[in-house]
Amino acid sequence: MSAVNEVVLDVDGLRVHTTDGSGLPVPIIEDVSFSLARGEVLGIVGESGSGKSMTALSVMRLIPGSLSQTGSIRLQGRDVMTLPERELQRMRGTKVSMVFQDPMTGLNPVRTVGSLLVEALRRHRDVSRREARKLAIEALRAVGIPSPELRINAYPHQLSGGLRQRVMIAMALLHDPAVIIADEPTTALDATIQAQIIDLMRSRVTSAGLILITHDLGVAGQICDRIIVMYAGHIVEEGTALDLLARPRHPYTAGLLAAAPRFDRERKPLIPITGSPPTPHDRPEGCPFAPRCSRTIDPCRDQRPELVPGDLSTAACWNPLNS
Ligand SMILES: Nc1ncnc2c1ncn2[C@@H]1O[C@H](COP(=O)(O)OP(=O)(O)O)[C@@H](O)[C@H]1O
Ligand SMILES: [Mg+2]
Repeated sequence: MSAVNEVVLDVDGLRVHTTDGSGLPVPIIEDVSFSLARGEVLGIVGESGSGKSMTALSVMRLIPGSLSQTGSIRLQGRDVMTLPERELQRMRGTKVSMVFQDPMTGLNPVRTVGSLLVEALRRHRDVSRREARKLAIEALRAVGIPSPELRINAYPHQLSGGLRQRVMIAMALLHDPAVIIADEPTTALDATIQAQIIDLMRSRVTSAGLILITHDLGVAGQICDRIIVMYAGHIVEEGTALDLLARPRHPYTAGLLAAAPRFDRERKPLIPITGSPPTPHDRPEGCPFAPRCSRTIDPCRDQRPELVPGDLSTAACWNPLNS
């Protein structure tokens, strides 16, 4: 059972910044730290612009060239920050996989599903074309694609959004990665298909650590063991999914919860959080959420709260709920 607790990814003090007109650094991600164990599902949740995708891209070392990244990223103990480009490419092909929101952006439209899978297999494994095709059919069957021996000849646009996402998941699982990062994998799908894809990921991603990025705290609550809530490039709360959903401490988490459709409760009216998140260029000095928060007290507007562990979750808030 020790393999289950094996830490596969450790991110410590991650910072990403861009520069302003006069060359001064403007932080996008500030001091993000987390670790992920094999078999664990970690949610990264927050509104659009919180820095979720940027965090994922940093782990893959794929942030845009105009930005810089510091901090430590360790994948199965190896320092990703100092890996040469060749090894990074190998890592991205085999050790870490990504599943994106719109499968059309992840799948080359002029290639059949089969040729995409065969190429991905043969890039990192010494198998014949024939053997790879058999493995590809098995990979499609394993993610619940009906008649895989026929579907393998389809082009991505000939499949429904749900089937395309299953193909992406099959691709992501091909090389038995240690980490899978799914960035809004169900956002483009309707609710029924969304639930099927979530079920599929929960049942198929067993030996890898899975990071599920979503703006929807309700979706994260269905599948995640632990959840990180991000706001304006910071982690504002972190805890088990059970604790965060039952007793959020950060007012932002409580706000996301009130705004999220829930599957496990009677329907309640959804209450959106008023206002919108700051951009990296207009982040306030104190708590980044203070301008939208109804619980602000003295220090909130001029002092940054640190992440402080509580009985339940860890939260960065001067005036937390449920404490
Ligand atoms: N290439 C870039 N240059 C500068 N800022 C960027 C770039 N890409 C994204 N950002 C900024 O980084 C912040 C985080 O974006 P992102 O990680 O995409 O958020 P999320 O995935 O949570 O919606 C946003 O404020 C966005 O404007
Ligand atoms: Mg995003």
